[in-house]
Amino acid sequence: MITVRAAAKVNLRLAVGPPRADGFHPLLTIYQAISLYDDVTVSEADAWSVTVEPTGDLDCSGAPLDESNIAVRAGRLLGGHHGIERAAAIRIAKGIPVAGGLAGGSADAAASLVALDRLWELDTSDEDLLRLAAQLGSDVPFALLGGTALGTGRGEVVEPIEDPGTWWWVVVPNATGMSTPEVYREFDRLNPDLGSHVHLRVHDMTGVLRARDFRLLGRNLENDLQAAALSLRPDLDQTDTDLFELGAYRLLSGSGPTFLGLVETQERAHEVRQQMMDRGYRGIQVATGPVAGAHLVKYI
Ligand code: C5P
Repeated sequence: MITVRAAAKVNLRLAVGPPRADGFHPLLTIYQAISLYDDVTVSEADAWSVTVEPTGDLDCSGAPLDESNIAVRAGRLLGGHHGIERAAAIRIAKGIPVAGGLAGGSADAAASLVALDRLWELDTSDEDLLRLAAQLGSDVPFALLGGTALGTGRGEVVEPIEDPGTWWWVVVPNATGMSTPEVYREFDRLNPDLGSHVHLRVHDMTGVLRARDFRLLGRNLENDLQAAALSLRPDLDQTDTDLFELGAYRLLSGSGPTFLGLVETQERAHEVRQQMMDRGYRGIQVATGPVAGAHLVKYI
């Protein structure tokens, strides 16, 4: 039995271009892994099975419990790559909100790849794991890598970047999940005349991270999908306002609906969490970043 832990991600910057011929959007993004985790435990079995249990009061009802679960698809892909037909029992302890824009499914896929590679003693190269990860989803290679990274292509081409700070996030989930393709469709509708070039001055961002100044980072947080997500879900505007009133820098996570507030210290993060709860929000968590990518935590 092997347990691998994988983290949620936020996009500190998410610059989106017009759709490519394959329907995906070219991205320039800065990913950061934050300390919300899914633990994926795999054990030998004759047939695939998957169970999902929440850690804390998370609602996991949106996670598929059959072979369509991305952790199982990851296992099949890995087996196929090595020409073997094996199965496993997969248990996911979820700490990352489902359909929240935090790449929880991608974390499960990455953790499943790493865990099954160990369980089946396949010794897959990092290069191959990253290639398989990219086939599973745009955010899966980053979930393997962790830390802070530049993402290009459709997000699947990742390259670590220096991020020496410790950043504190208040994570505000929303009970109603959002569909990523729908948000991208709304983005296309709102941006019909987008030039083919995606703009993001990556070097500026590395300078911002190196400065370790939360105000500087706060002013540089930017997500091109935010307007599209808010257009589909005007109710999220209130979360933005509440975090603003509490002095946090706000950022929609990926395609939403989770909102993040960047604050100065761990202590302030816990205060803002409490203040948001006083305003009626539920399931708020405090997270720090950057943290590691998918890694082994238990081996029995
Ligand atoms: O790669 P992933 O499975 O995360 O993508 C889910 C959906 O999000 C895609 O089918 C596509 O509609 C949209 N997407 C996109 N451009 C990207 C990443 C995702 O249009 N760069």
